[in-house]
Amino acid sequence: MNTNRLSATLETALNAQMTKEAHASQIYLAYGAWADSHGYGGIANFLFRHAQEERNHMMKVLEYILKRGGKALITAIPAPPENPSSANNCFEKIFQHEVDNTNAVYSIVKISLEEQDWATYNFMQWFVKEQIEEETLAMNLLDKIKIAGGEVVSSNALYTLDRDLENMPDSARSAEEVTAEQP
Ligand code: FEO
Repeated sequence: MNTNRLSATLETALNAQMTKEAHASQIYLAYGAWADSHGYGGIANFLFRHAQEERNHMMKVLEYILKRGGKALITAIPAPPENPSSANNCFEKIFQHEVDNTNAVYSIVKISLEEQDWATYNFMQWFVKEQIEEETLAMNLLDKIKIAGGEVVSSNALYTLDRDLENMPDSARSAEEVTAEQP
């Protein structure tokens, strides 16, 4: 008896999203290492914490696939893109990455709507909401660095921004603690 409650299309799409979240974690790790090696310890710390958050997203998708009787495929994770060329470029790359991820989330929402898979549709709303926060966070970082001078940010302003990010509260929690109400 087939107990898989996911269509083949959604199972594939969810597996791809799981890998995409793992890829996101690698990106934040890579950029964090880049930031640290340039002396931006606060930015690095922030990015490392965010890498953990992306891993939680990956776990959330993995658990959902398994819960629905689907087959979770753990594959190789693509390498992160090239290192940023500056702190400004780092935040630009992060924003672009989050927009790409939002589009991937939307495409799964669209498939679940077409298939009338209301369980997956409902599950994905958490990610729709989360992506608003992720994009807002990236936009705020970009705004801050742009106000401080963008590509020609002064060392003083960069120092302050770096210190602010160091002190930002840690929002990374385990996947089990995360709910739709409190992403
Ligand atoms: Fe898992 Fe940054 O989105």
